[in-house]
Amino acid sequence: MHPIVLALSVQDYTGPGKETFPQTALRRHLGCCFNAEENVECRRIQILKQIVGNLHNAQLNAMKTECWIAWVLTAIVIERCIKVAREMFAYFTSRIPASRKLLRKATEKWLFFMPQDLDALSVDDNFFPKLVKRFESEASKLSGEEVHIHEEELQDALRVGREYVEKWEQLEAQISEENRKKGVNEGTTRATGSRRYSSKRHNPEAMARSKEAAIYLVARKYLSDRLGIPAEKIGDLGRLPNTASDRQACDFSSKFRNIDGTCNNIDIPLYGKSGTIFSRLIANSNEGYDDGISTIRKSKLTKNPLPSARLVSSAVVYNDSVPNPAVTLLTMQWGQFLDHDLTSTPTFTKSDGTEFACCSTNITGTSVLTAPHPECLPIAIPSNDPTYNPSSIGQQTCMNFIRSTYGNNLDGTAPRTRSHINALTHWIDASNVYGSTAAKAASLRNTTSGRGKLKTSISSNRQMLPLLSANVFDAGDHRVNEQPLLTIMHTLWVREHNRIADNLYTVAPNQTDEFYYQHARRIVIAEMQHIIYTEYLPVIIGPDLAAQVMSSEYGYYSGNPAIFTEFSTAAYRMGHSQVRSFIRLFDRSGRVSKDSYFLSDSFMNPSRLLTNVNFFDDALRGLLQVPAQAVDNCFADDITSQLFKPNGQRLGFDLIALNIQRGRDHGLPPYVSMLYYLASNFLLQTQPTNFDHLVPRIPAEIVASLRSVYETVYDVDLYIGGVAEKPLPNAELGPTFAGIFALQFLNLRRTDRFFYNYNVNQPTGFNSAQLAQIQRVSLARIICDNSDRSITTIQPKVFRTPDDLLNKPIPCTNIFGIDFYKMTPL
Ligand code: HEM
Repeated sequence: MHPIVLALSVQDYTGPGKETFPQTALRRHLGCCFNAEENVECRRIQILKQIVGNLHNAQLNAMKTECWIAWVLTAIVIERCIKVAREMFAYFTSRIPASRKLLRKATEKWLFFMPQDLDALSVDDNFFPKLVKRFESEASKLSGEEVHIHEEELQDALRVGREYVEKWEQLEAQISEENRKKGVNEGTTRATGSRRYSSKRHNPEAMARSKEAAIYLVARKYLSDRLGIPAEKIGDLGRLPNTASDRQACDFSSKFRNIDGTCNNIDIPLYGKSGTIFSRLIANSNEGYDDGISTIRKSKLTKNPLPSARLVSSAVVYNDSVPNPAVTLLTMQWGQFLDHDLTSTPTFTKSDGTEFACCSTNITGTSVLTAPHPECLPIAIPSNDPTYNPSSIGQQTCMNFIRSTYGNNLDGTAPRTRSHINALTHWIDASNVYGSTAAKAASLRNTTSGRGKLKTSISSNRQMLPLLSANVFDAGDHRVNEQPLLTIMHTLWVREHNRIADNLYTVAPNQTDEFYYQHARRIVIAEMQHIIYTEYLPVIIGPDLAAQVMSSEYGYYSGNPAIFTEFSTAAYRMGHSQVRSFIRLFDRSGRVSKDSYFLSDSFMNPSRLLTNVNFFDDALRGLLQVPAQAVDNCFADDITSQLFKPNGQRLGFDLIALNIQRGRDHGLPPYVSMLYYLASNFLLQTQPTNFDHLVPRIPAEIVASLRSVYETVYDVDLYIGGVAEKPLPNAELGPTFAGIFALQFLNLRRTDRFFYNYNVNQPTGFNSAQLAQIQRVSLARIICDNSDRSITTIQPKVFRTPDDLLNKPIPCTNIFGIDFYKMTPL
């Protein structure tokens, strides 16, 4: 047998059914073509063909040979080299007819699909232009004929709205008083009952806005019921006085963004401001809410309640580990960090800032649904839930869930349905580093440096984030302490800001603190944008679609940048599927460190960064080497039952159930509506009308699980349908989520007057020499510059796993960065 084949079979290919899939070794041997054009064969595949070509039939039929062929083929398919995979499949099966079944089995086991299905997922050349067209026509659609409401009826309806809000406030006061009397500490009761989960923070401003908006939404509902007309036919009910946009307050000649996102858009300076509402891709749909306004949707045909979000999660989600060997765990971590620049949706609290419990414990110790507050939407846990109620006694039948705050349109009119508030600026503007309000930004600045630096704390001679208290770091986004890998991302970028500020001080001395702060911030934002559009998106949605998102064919337009609810509440949560349970650290000699840990042991505890001086770089080495999990219906149990588990308890939250419930809270359109909106141009001519239509877009066994819980295909929630889709070639996401991503990032780029490659050589943009420097930056360079200095070699494409052919680790000194002398004059 050929020596290489021998080496392969001895090392790795002991046959399918073995626990570990030999991805790393395969990648090492194949160096597969994740960067090559789809139709270009990579050199190693040619070699493999030669090897197989040279084998005698007897050898081919020998034990194990089919196995390694199956592994090879599977690896190629995983690498998304679709055309090559299909060709290899044909080649192998023609040489070894008996292997067809085996190949099918191995491929299905790891990927759930066969190469012949792949055609169904290819995106035609017109996908993106058609998508943009559809988006533009939806966005400009005027609402149909509206019913005029007489002043008297309007005042009557508004009175009902005000009474509702008054009752709401009385109820909150009453709950607070009762709890005070009972001495209930709601922050410490069982996790699935009322423990407040840490990604949310009391936001009195958002709450106040919701109550203003509630008056109008209740009035709309009242009028709709009373007059017997659909809610969407009722026009604007009035305007609140305080929201006119103030153009006078803007300096449109400034190169620098306002911290709160205002004054980027010249026509409507409030566009993108923190604390303003999300927008909707499908703006005029009445499918998201049962009443078209705010109550959660029901089954489309039967009008029965939808299956519990936890039931859906337990039926469809597996806790299997299915890594994508081509993509690093850093992709997951970058995704979460970027989300914390873009979105944070506050939930309701009581008026005094404390959390209310939507579940309570009865005398038998069972958690039950109580929903004492109008904004409670607790998730029912089935009494036979395999994880929460393993002995079918039904002890935990309730998971706490509180609805999100909502607000008014920028012009003060109330939206026609609940529209939720984004506490962050909507732009890609590093608000995770600098904050989203002027007060927060000021609190993060080191005003004594004279060089525009950000505050840090020092631990073992290393710059760390500033501390609010022991083991609680402060940063631009409040979720910084959620898990340690996220804290590392924040730290890297604060260090990067300070590094740039020092360099600017060297090349342009004698300027003010403000000068260095603003210029360093502007460069940090440009670096982030460059990394997102040229490194991150090509991995997530595939290089072709990412290139179209960046295409100069779509230039600036003065539109609303508000993040789409479909993106923040569904598509972007795809990152939850990339999460790994066991976080492997690698020491400087490349060995797995004994300090590796389970994610669930680290929630809200970043102390490792301070107590273990090796942690920072060891964790970065892990992020750079370990593959992320594929985006699919498999999730780590750390987040499907252990999320924010309190000490001493067996279980925490199920994030997938929360995502599904949040989608219902936010009135997301069902999966098939979104699929139709985005994909009818290239996948379907008509909307799916039964579950079978979802195959092969969604693997058949997942469709079967969906069928087991949903009454009709129209009811499937967007989140679960989207993550379950098979990925597009060369991408992480299937067509629906990839489409939402593409539109979202296109819109963020096109509406941003400060986008890093826009207005080049104009007073508010970079000049060409500066832009050329920014375009040299990569996340690899940022890591080299800001690690704890033990990372000295790195693969250039950090979102791709290292490889000795196309993504070979090289010394940091060979990776380009900014030459600050070329950035002057600033
Ligand atoms: C260990 C990792 C992570 C944990 C523990 C985590 C946890 C959470 C939690 C608790 C929520 C709020 C759920 C709700 O009640 O609606 C959330 C929201 C969200 N997550 Fe994650 N997440 C993680 C990673 C990620 C990643 C990798 C991404 C994206 C690539 C992501 C994207 C989002 C988005 C977009 C939201 C909505 C944010 C908002 O608008 O408030 N998360 N996550």
